[in-house]
Amino acid sequence: MLPLIFSFLILFPYAVYTRDRWTEAQATAWFQSQTYIMGSQYITSDSGNQLEMFQNDTWNPTLIDYELGLAESLGMTAMRVFLHDLAYQQDPTGFKSRVDTLLGISAKHGIKLLLVFLDSCWNANPQIGEQPEPRSGVMLSTWVQSPGTNALLNNTQWPRLETYVKDVVGAFANDARVLGWDLWNEPYNADDLTLVAAVEQLLPQLFQWARSVNPTQPLTSGPYNGDYLKGIGSNITQIQMNNSDVISFHK
Ligand SMILES: *[C@@H]1O[C@H](CO)[C@@H](O)[C@H](O)[C@H]1NC(C)=O
Ligand SMILES: *[C@@H]1O[C@H](CO)[C@@H](O)[C@H](O)[C@H]1NC(C)=O
Ligand SMILES: *[C@@H]1O[C@H](CO)[C@@H](O)[C@H](O)[C@H]1NC(C)=O
Ligand SMILES: *[C@@H]1O[C@H](CO)[C@@H](O)[C@H](O)[C@H]1NC(C)=O
Repeated sequence: MLPLIFSFLILFPYAVYTRDRWTEAQATAWFQSQTYIMGSQYITSDSGNQLEMFQNDTWNPTLIDYELGLAESLGMTAMRVFLHDLAYQQDPTGFKSRVDTLLGISAKHGIKLLLVFLDSCWNANPQIGEQPEPRSGVMLSTWVQSPGTNALLNNTQWPRLETYVKDVVGAFANDARVLGWDLWNEPYNADDLTLVAAVEQLLPQLFQWARSVNPTQPLTSGPYNGDYLKGIGSNITQIQMNNSDVISFHK
């Protein structure tokens, strides 16, 4: 058998060598190998959204070092950080270099990162470039969705999302500073059936794309509405539960 498998790997290195979803035993082993996981979401305090945090002009590693030092002093060991497809698309090499710097600063403070790719929350039309000033008294007033509703409903844009996910996961697939990959924060799951249908198409592909570059870290996307703890859920909740290596959830 071995020579046969070996020749398949040489002939079809990507198609064949895509890892499966983790078994429960693998998920448990991963969890037990981690130090105590405790943390929060994190964005630099001078950024209103993911684009401001990650675009070159407003990138602020000095502030990240200070703030993750504060987190470390509280005993925190993990942070969930939102990436953005447009920051990647504008400057893939620079973007990955900034993620690498972020991971380096985090590791210095004993903190691992759960990195989030897409997000269905708040402003639906993200624009690259200078970001608007926050509106006083409005929670997360400049936070932006990724990829935003136009790109979500236009599948000719999905190949660039495939590039984004594969390139970023691939670059850090063996990196122990990454706690895991959260493919989509709170994907559209109700109300607008056109958006829900698009998520039902795209979310399984996100898992496939991320898995195809063989990450050593777990993939996840957290259920957040419906009665999912009782195993009842929409198609999207089921897609999240069925594809995640480890289950994460929002309450
Ligand atoms: C990124 O920003 C830094 C600091 O403002 C600047 O020195 C550098 O030239 C910028 N790089 C690019 C590619 O714009
Ligand atoms: C869909 O996206 C493409 C770019 O990939 C763009 O050329 C086209 O105008 C978009 N279609 C709509 C309906 O917005
Ligand atoms: C779930 O997906 C199935 C098959 O695509 C579809 O028939 C059904 O209407 C979907 N259910 C909901 C609640 O969206
Ligand atoms: C999730 O997995 C269950 C059990 O295998 C299956 O019955 C269900 O159809 C799957 N749901 C989706 C949306 O793929």
